[in-house]
Amino acid sequence: MSDESTMLAPPRGMRDFYPPEMALRRRLFDVWHAAARRAGFEEYDACVVESLDLLKRKAGEEIVDQIYAFQDKSERWLALRPEMTPTLARMLAAREGSLTFPVKWYTIAQCFRYERMTRGRKREHYQWNLDIVGTDAVAAEAQVLGAAVDAMDALGLDARHYAVRFSSRALLGDLLASLGIAPAHHAPAFLALDKRGKIDDAAIERLLAAEGVDRDCTRRIFDLLSLDSLDAAAARLSADAPSLAGVRRFLEVAAAQGIGELLRFDLSVIRGLSYYTGIVFEAFDTAGKLRAIFGGGRYDRLLADVGGKPRSGVGLGFGDVVVAELLTDLALAGQAAGGADIEVGFMEPAQELPAIRAGAAWRREGKRVSVACQPEKAKVFFGRVSKSGAAEAVYIGPDDVAAGLLRVKNLATREQRDIPLRSVSD
Ligand code: HAM
Repeated sequence: MSDESTMLAPPRGMRDFYPPEMALRRRLFDVWHAAARRAGFEEYDACVVESLDLLKRKAGEEIVDQIYAFQDKSERWLALRPEMTPTLARMLAAREGSLTFPVKWYTIAQCFRYERMTRGRKREHYQWNLDIVGTDAVAAEAQVLGAAVDAMDALGLDARHYAVRFSSRALLGDLLASLGIAPAHHAPAFLALDKRGKIDDAAIERLLAAEGVDRDCTRRIFDLLSLDSLDAAAARLSADAPSLAGVRRFLEVAAAQGIGELLRFDLSVIRGLSYYTGIVFEAFDTAGKLRAIFGGGRYDRLLADVGGKPRSGVGLGFGDVVVAELLTDLALAGQAAGGADIEVGFMEPAQELPAIRAGAAWRREGKRVSVACQPEKAKVFFGRVSKSGAAEAVYIGPDDVAAGLLRVKNLATREQRDIPLRSVSD
């Protein structure tokens, strides 16, 4: 049974955005849009409701258990999207004949996942997605990462605050093959290994045993994950392994892109989504307190899996929750922007029309102006507007109209300047 206080809260895991939270969200969205455009990505969007079947087939295994699903009145199974990637694959496959590949697309999508609530995890979040589809070149990995790093820069976050850990599922696959594990078992092995740290090693052993990997082999896989450099991993493979060349080339192009210093090779980065096949990466705060800020990777088969031509893509998802936590922790979240540059008030009904005219004139000049809706005492007006975040305030009384002057007060310095009423009333 819900009492009145629970009725006032949003459903568990969902968020209300009051103006201060909305100001931060707006800043983040502006930064995301600007960084995507600077890097030449085009914006797209889709409906938040997707067919359950597509999501079940294409979302990562972990996510499938978290889908908010429902039946419509015609008994179609639908769902609130938990991520954007299956929808992107569907949209590209549907128009592949008329699109010019590679495409570089971005969106800011609200996503819903019924997750266990922890710090940085909600049941609804906004996720900036950047994807380049239709090229195998790892320059694309560097480009999506470059745009995300550009956005982090614009938010005041740099190598002091976070690093990007990366690996390659292709490379890990080659390492698994070197232990005698057949390729058919690699994908389930990745998902089992991704759970390391979240469930105990004995449970992972059981998951791998179901894939025919014996205990001894599991131990050797765990040893692989602790190889702490690319050279150490390379020593286990033949020098001309394509997966190794891919990672080396990625490091080269990333360095040229100016993001090399943020990258850390880490074989334990696997990611929970089953569609990744190549380089995978995740950004973490250096203090190690938060979950991943953003993550992504290459997917070779996703488009073919939804009925399109086999085209490889790479992309990332960057949520609004973790980065907001990080900005708040570092005191970089900033202040709410405030609603107006100028607040206008008046004493009596007789001054309302001059107030409205002045507001309209300033808006034509491009200023943000908030005009009072009713007369109020000077004390009430100045008390109210001093908390509004506006830079200036004008209070109009009968004497001002009679003198033909408006007193514009700077709310920070308390200085006043007079301007002729005529200048804003024509
Ligand atoms: P993901 O790692 O599941 O990847 O999510 C990407 C980012 O979304 C996370 O790093 C985090 O910032 C945010 N995020 C995810 N779940 C939540 C949650 N419950 N609450 C708050 N934030 C969350 C994907 O979704 C892939 N589809 C990304 C991608 C795009 N890969 C290729 N293209």
